Amino acid sequence: MNLITIDGPSASGKGTISALVAKKLGWAILDSGALYRISAYAVQTKGINPEDEGAVAAVVSDLDIQFKTSEVFVDGVEVSDILRLESTGKMASKIATYPTLRQALLDRQRNFIHGVAGLVADGRDMGTVVFPQAPLKIFLVADVNERANRRYKQLVDKGIEANFDEILVDLKRRDEQDMNRAVAPLKPAEDAVVIDSSYMGIQEVVEAILGAWADCIK
Ligand code: CDP
Ligand code: CDP
Repeated sequence: MNLITIDGPSASGKGTISALVAKKLGWAILDSGALYRISAYAVQTKGINPEDEGAVAAVVSDLDIQFKTSEVFVDGVEVSDILRLESTGKMASKIATYPTLRQALLDRQRNFIHGVAGLVADGRDMGTVVFPQAPLKIFLVADVNERANRRYKQLVDKGIEANFDEILVDLKRRDEQDMNRAVAPLKPAEDAVVIDSSYMGIQEVVEAILGAWADCIK
C-alpha cells in the first residue's frame, strides 16, 4: 500500500514536507488539519455554539468540501485564507477534542486513499487512528522555539503582521491541548519513525523520509 503518514505538532513542517514528498513520489496529499480548520470555519460562520458537541458534529457532516490544487472550497466558497488564521487554528484545536466530530471526519479522511497512486497523510492521528495500517509512519518534531520561529518567518514572508511571543504562547497552548485530549491525542504510533527536524533543513527531512520509504518497500 502506497501510504506515508506524517504526524507531529504545529509548525514542525508537516505540510511543507508532505507536499514535497508527495510531489517526488507522484502521490496525493491529505491535509487532515484542513478538515478540522474547515469544521472550525463552519462553526464560526454558521452561528453554531462551539460548546455544543452534537451541533458541531452535525454541521460538519453536511458540508460540501472540495480541495483544488492550493485552494479549498466549502459549500462553493473559497476559504483558503480564512483557514490559515490562528483564530481558526485555535477553534480547530478546541473542537478537535470532540469524539463525535472526529468520528464524523473519519470516513472523509479514509476516502482519500481511494483512486490515487499513493497518499501522504499529514495531521496528528494519521498513523495512530486514521491509517494504522500505513507501512511508513513519520512523527515529525522540532523544538518549540524553532517552530515558533518558523511560523513567525512564514507569516512575515507573506506580509502578515506577527508577534513572536504570541506565536510561542499559542503553539505551547495548542501542543498542550493536542497532546492531552482523551481521544486521538498527538503521540507517535508505536512503529513510527521519529524525526527531530530542529536542526534539519527542509530538503534534508524530505530525503530522510524518501530514504525510509525506499527501505520500507525493499
Ligand atoms: O498547521 P498546524 O500544524 O498548526 O495545524 P493543522 O494541522 O492545520 O491542525 C489544526 C488543529 O486541528 C490542530 O491543532 C489539531 O487540534 C487538529 N487536528 C487534529 O486533531 N487531528 C488531525 N489529524 C489534524 C489536526
Ligand atoms: O504543517 P506544519 O504546521 O507542521 O508546518 P509547515 O506549515 O509545513 O511549516 C512551517 C514553516 O516551517 C514553513 O514556512 C516551512 O518552510 C518551515 N520549515 C523549515 O524552515 N524547516 C524545516 N525543516 C521544516 C519547515
